[in-house]
Amino acid sequence: METKAIQPKSIVDITTDFLPLQGTDYVEFYVGNAKQAAHFYKTAFGFQSLAYAGPETGVKDKVSYVIRQNKLTFVLTTPLRTCNAIAHHIYLHGDAVKVIALKVEDATAAWKATTERGGKSYLKPKTVKDDDGEVIVSGIHTYGETVHLFVERKNYNGLFLPGFREWKSDYNPAATGLLYVDHCVGNVGWNQMNPWVRFYEEVMGFKNILSFDDKDISTEYSSLMSKVMSNGNGFVKFPINEPAEGKKKSQVEEYLDFYNGEGVQHVAIATADIIKTVTDLKKRGVEFLKIPQSYYKDVLDRVGKIDEDLRPLSQLGILIDRDEEGYLLQIFSKPVEDRPTLFFEVIQRKGAKSFGKGNFKALFEALEKEQELRGNL
Ligand code: FE2
Repeated sequence: METKAIQPKSIVDITTDFLPLQGTDYVEFYVGNAKQAAHFYKTAFGFQSLAYAGPETGVKDKVSYVIRQNKLTFVLTTPLRTCNAIAHHIYLHGDAVKVIALKVEDATAAWKATTERGGKSYLKPKTVKDDDGEVIVSGIHTYGETVHLFVERKNYNGLFLPGFREWKSDYNPAATGLLYVDHCVGNVGWNQMNPWVRFYEEVMGFKNILSFDDKDISTEYSSLMSKVMSNGNGFVKFPINEPAEGKKKSQVEEYLDFYNGEGVQHVAIATADIIKTVTDLKKRGVEFLKIPQSYYKDVLDRVGKIDEDLRPLSQLGILIDRDEEGYLLQIFSKPVEDRPTLFFEVIQRKGAKSFGKGNFKALFEALEKEQELRGNL
């Protein structure tokens, strides 16, 4: 079993970082019914209503609801007509992540630097204005039909972006303690992991901070390979998965089949109290993968002493792993749509900066059980 930890802290020299990123600005989903999706994320995950754009604000072909919880902002967009790029995206991929927007100081420089290095332009730098100031947005394509937007909002004081108005709602479920995007994972096709690793290195100046080969991430039946890419300050991390040969179908392959190509597999969201957050999410109907109780029999022998009682962790199905710097607690939801595609992770880091390698086997066995029930293993 070989895991290559390449420069665990992997900090690009910040003075020479050609793409300084301040973190994830927002994640935009193209969905079949944004009104209902917004209700789901508010009810189940504890987001609050923030902003809205649609026919009433002068947008004639689509509607977007913006919801927020702490530093986590989701945009849910649905098309109003049949023949357009958003409708086609939903037809091909189902409800899916379209945009991972990154906050930058200078969106023009970000676009120039990345397109000069071979990134394919999605949106040339564009200034959008309203009474609250201006925002410059630009963007490039990444794997599949997913895109990265660069958002420069230092001269803007509005709620979200120009063109959006406040969304006031009488329905305001309490928050669940979700804080910010920890990482976003992409599933890519056979032999496509390394080309996309090179894309993040060459076009965006990221570093490969961890690699897992097919022996690290395999069960009796299926396997995958993964490399974790991080930007210079570590605020933005993109693991990239590719399927690997096994006795049966890799979970990444199942995703690729149902997504009709490459796309975002999961968004990991940080919390400061995973037991509280997950207890709350479960009560609100969020479904998580079930972990066999046998996992908890010897987990503390592997990870050592932790602050939490094991009992609530085992009742909820929260996984534990440790690296040189500390430990982490994590749990994975079931897919949040009927296609076995996008799901969420909730993660609490207690020093550990890694990605739960010790949990892969238990996690993938749990995933395979679900895959088998769908008849796709
Ligand atoms: Fe993850």
